[in-house]
Amino acid sequence: MADALVSYLPFVSEYWLHIATVIVGFALFRVLKNALVTTTTKNSKKTRVGCQLDSYDLSLISEDLSEHDLVAAQDASNGEDNSPQILYKSVQYTAEETVSRAAKFYSAINRRRTLRHFSARPVPLAAIHSVIKAAGTAPSGAHMQPWTFVVVQDADMKSQIRAIVEAEEEINYRQRMGDRWVHDLKDLNVNWVKPYLEIAPYLILVFEQVHGVTKDGLKQTHYYSRISVSIACGILLAALQEAGLCTVTSTPLNAGPAIRRLVQRPTNEKLMLLLPVGYPAEDATVPNLTRKALDEIMILI
Ligand SMILES: Cc1cc2nc3c(=O)[nH]c(=O)nc-3n(C[C@H](O)[C@H](O)[C@H](O)COP(=O)(O)O)c2cc1C
Repeated sequence: MADALVSYLPFVSEYWLHIATVIVGFALFRVLKNALVTTTTKNSKKTRVGCQLDSYDLSLISEDLSEHDLVAAQDASNGEDNSPQILYKSVQYTAEETVSRAAKFYSAINRRRTLRHFSARPVPLAAIHSVIKAAGTAPSGAHMQPWTFVVVQDADMKSQIRAIVEAEEEINYRQRMGDRWVHDLKDLNVNWVKPYLEIAPYLILVFEQVHGVTKDGLKQTHYYSRISVSIACGILLAALQEAGLCTVTSTPLNAGPAIRRLVQRPTNEKLMLLLPVGYPAEDATVPNLTRKALDEIMILI
């Protein structure tokens, strides 16, 4: 038998020790690699199980994924749903009630307008707590809740924010935006002077946590953070409208980093929206805009 092996497989018989070493070495490498990935995931502390990530397009989940993040994401995609299940207390409406409630909500939200003229009338802080809690109910990729709402009520801080925004906006309007953008804004009667940033009782600064940071200082992937924060902002706007408050949905172009430093938020947070919040001024006016009709925005297939 041994002679037959030698004659048929001379290479194996001569180098069997080397071959065995390579096989054992490879097996050891696989075991160590698996152990390392498991430890990294455990270190991240945050619970990523309980979410189905198979449908997540990894190229879209974050703008700056590192290799470590991708490992974490793929690992999470294999996670079992370990979160305890609780009964969902559903409210069942009749078909008529459903139609009526949907129409009522539309009627209320259709009154929402971007208001650029605020009253200085104080707004109870309890109302701000509720609208932000409402925003915090938004769905988010893998339930990472990648948002921070900084509420500024301090007059001096509001003045500093106004100064930063107006300085940047003047450059935006004069140099960065270009003729077409400035022309498109003509009917809205907006420019870089924004007194409402000091008049409105509150400024809500909405920060997107581009990624999280674990207690151990590791980078925690936030899946679809921009989309998640945008949904939270939509709910926030609806909640403000319901409370009789108004806002200007504004994206302070180029002012984000300076404002982030001013309010001392960490570098993993990016300013997405600046929302002055208050009651409308009694003589407030709005541009006479129309909204697209249903048949222009909905296709039934
Ligand atoms: C992403 C985003 C950014 C906006 N940025 C500004 C802004 O910087 N300044 C401003 O006065 N309005 C801003 N707006 C408000 C729009 O001009 C306003 O929503 C639009 O004209 C429609 O008016 P309405 O909100 O009254 O329906 C912004 C709105 C959105 C959604």
